[in-house]
Amino acid sequence: MPLTVLNYYKIEIQQILIMMFYGLKNIRKDLQLIDDRKLQLKIIFHIALNLIKVRIIMFSRFKKDRDEIMERIDTNLFRTIQEKYRKIAPNENYTKYLNISGYLKRNLKRAYRLNLHKSKPLNIIDFGAGAGYFCFICNYFGHNVMAMDVGKSPVFDELIQLLGINRKIGAIEAFKRLPKFDTDFDLATAFYVPFNKASNPDEVWRVEEWKFLLEDLANNLLKENGRIFFFLHHENDGKHYDRILLQFFLDYNDRLLGQELYFEHTEKFRAVRVGYF
Ligand SMILES: C[S@@+](CC[C@H](N)C(=O)[O-])C[C@H]1O[C@@H](n2cnc3c(N)ncnc32)[C@H](O)[C@@H]1O
Repeated sequence: MPLTVLNYYKIEIQQILIMMFYGLKNIRKDLQLIDDRKLQLKIIFHIALNLIKVRIIMFSRFKKDRDEIMERIDTNLFRTIQEKYRKIAPNENYTKYLNISGYLKRNLKRAYRLNLHKSKPLNIIDFGAGAGYFCFICNYFGHNVMAMDVGKSPVFDELIQLLGINRKIGAIEAFKRLPKFDTDFDLATAFYVPFNKASNPDEVWRVEEWKFLLEDLANNLLKENGRIFFFLHHENDGKHYDRILLQFFLDYNDRLLGQELYFEHTEKFRAVRVGYF
């Protein structure tokens, strides 16, 4: 079937419907924790809106951005790294991240989702940055980005070096302040970083740990109008939070979207200071 404009839209619409179906299936358990029907509908509406928004941006500029980004990467060196880890299973030591086209697409979607393709230059910190693809894309869109990661994966070490990303070694840990950086940030991100279940996978963070992290971020790392965007791991029961944690997040934010924990305004977290006095 030739890829005419009409066919392109047909495929996109199919994909949107499939993603909405799976997206809603994934957050069904979270939605069941919400008694307020209006809020449930609002969340579903935002999910659909964001999916459509990102798809539209993808249609208008993805190919151009992807090609320009690829031109900035030393593909010979990249292939050497791919070859070196070729025999290691994709889920072992993060070697699946050597599939550059898939991960560039995923990270471009994240940047579009956060409007980074059209915003003024921002200072961004990406926790658990892994290979550094998201950071690289932020740089491409003209932002200053800093990565932080525990740095225990040789694949990520090589990729982040190849991509020229500035990285600090460090971990997000319960009740432990984050390191100080030379600059304040407009945006803090973390995608699929299991910091909230680091010590024991059966024990995930509760309100106290989250409160400490969010207040620390707001008071010590972010600018006054700084934003926080976390893309969470599922908990063991398939939900992203329990009822108490959900209520805590909702008290600060009504743009909760299942796996996405997005605080567009963080001033409320400044109420309690855990700063460097
Ligand atoms: C699944 S990878 C995700 C990488 C990247 N964020 C992405 O989405 O492509 C998880 C990353 O989080 C890092 N990590 C795990 N626990 C962490 C912690 N407590 N603090 C900071 N980074 C952590 C790992 O080293 C790894 O790079």
